[in-house]
Amino acid sequence: MVTIDGPAGSGKGTISKLVSHTLDFHYLDSGAIYRIIAFEAKTKNLFINQITQILKLVDGLNIQFSDEKIFLGSKEITDLIRSELIGKFASEIAKNKLIRERILGLQKSFFKSPGLVADGRDMGTVVFPDARVKIFLTASIEERANRRYKQLILKENNVNLSDLFERIKLRDESDTNRKISPLKAAKDAYLIKTDNLSINQSFEKVMEIIRSKEE
Ligand code: DC
Repeated sequence: MVTIDGPAGSGKGTISKLVSHTLDFHYLDSGAIYRIIAFEAKTKNLFINQITQILKLVDGLNIQFSDEKIFLGSKEITDLIRSELIGKFASEIAKNKLIRERILGLQKSFFKSPGLVADGRDMGTVVFPDARVKIFLTASIEERANRRYKQLILKENNVNLSDLFERIKLRDESDTNRKISPLKAAKDAYLIKTDNLSINQSFEKVMEIIRSKEE
């Protein structure tokens, strides 16, 4: 069991997928669960204060992760949940204690033989505190804004780097300062700062740590 936590843009999603392929482990993108709830709540015109309705919606969710694709019932929503709007709403949803508790079982159910790589904010601290290997990936806000800029500019012309910087800063503050399951490294997590590392170099560092724990 490997947990990889960290802020948005630290590279944890890409690296977690690479690690899960290399180890032939299952993969949990826990952020996607918050995004799916946000997406479904928006579709049903629910607001963040309508917790009872959102909890009901959570109980009825039929989520399927298949290869790199995400399905809600029979509808593919892989790209639909990646918008800034859904990300912002997901961050609000993620502050709610009752919602976090309600999806604990769902997250734990991803732990199956031969193993799991789980990525998120509280995988090593709350959801899988007994994980054998815990990694916490970080990068400065500047670096993460630059990475996001390079991704977005391939798809859109109208991208503003200082806007991205501010949005990432706000999202970090919201995820780090919330009372319930804030973004923080587990005491026994290995910290990797990825500012000057390529994805491949970060991946190699993670694999080195995993191999050292196997011996
Ligand atoms: O990693 P992401 O951007 O897809 O996550 C979306 C939101 O969900 C983000 O604001 C943080 C929150 N989240 C969380 O609170 N706990 C997790 N384990 C994963 C994500």
